[in-house]
Amino acid sequence: MARKPLMAGNWKMNNTIGEAVVLTQEISNQYEKEWPESVDIVICPPFVDLKPAKTVFDFDKTKIAVGAQNVYGEPAGAFTGEISVPMIKEIGCTCSIVGHSERRELFGETNEGVNKKVKALVAAGLYAIVCVGESLAVREEGTTDEYVCAQVRAAFAGVDAREATTCVVAYEPIWAIGTGRTATPEQAEAVCAAIRATLSEMFGEEVAEGMRVLYGGSMNPGNVGELMVQPNVDGGLIGGASLKAASFVQLIEACL
Ligand code: PGA
Repeated sequence: MARKPLMAGNWKMNNTIGEAVVLTQEISNQYEKEWPESVDIVICPPFVDLKPAKTVFDFDKTKIAVGAQNVYGEPAGAFTGEISVPMIKEIGCTCSIVGHSERRELFGETNEGVNKKVKALVAAGLYAIVCVGESLAVREEGTTDEYVCAQVRAAFAGVDAREATTCVVAYEPIWAIGTGRTATPEQAEAVCAAIRATLSEMFGEEVAEGMRVLYGGSMNPGNVGELMVQPNVDGGLIGGASLKAASFVQLIEACL
């Protein structure tokens, strides 16, 4: 089954509201109305930038979606500092990144927490971009596939095939994030194929063949071509290169 690529920009903790408006306007200015025929595009800015970014993209009638970088698994209540799925849904977000390695490493996010967030998102009709990926130590040990596929199983535990079908998995080797050290196309393909095989075991082949598996980790205009030709790489989760309109647009155009 032909899968439509997804290019997702992960701004991380960058851009104040003013800066976000400038960057979204720059992207919007270069927008071509043919893009959505070939590629889905979402940007995931910090929470405070979601509404302004959405407003710019809607005002300019672009089909660029916005998503959150994280969300909490409960709908409301005494959870100081957290943001719920209904809150991002009302802004018009279509998705949230879940389980990014920075959240797992720096903020103690667990597989159980990731699973709760995935369930909260799909129950509300949003989709999750579930991040998985191994450290350099795991890769050197030779247990990458086992480690990553266990993360996939945990993230989707108790999620049914109908709910999973809209979700996305992003394979992001931790040693490649923000380091300029990209996985080789062969390394990316091997793990993305193992992820799809796991999704197939969980949800059946047809659903797994329709789900998108992204690569993330120093994806840039120079390496996007060789990554995107891999049969199991369906797009990118892009950090650094999504912070400049010119490079983000080049990544989108690589999917046309
Ligand atoms: P990077 O980040 O493109 O800057 O390596 C990717 C990510 O962490 O999602």
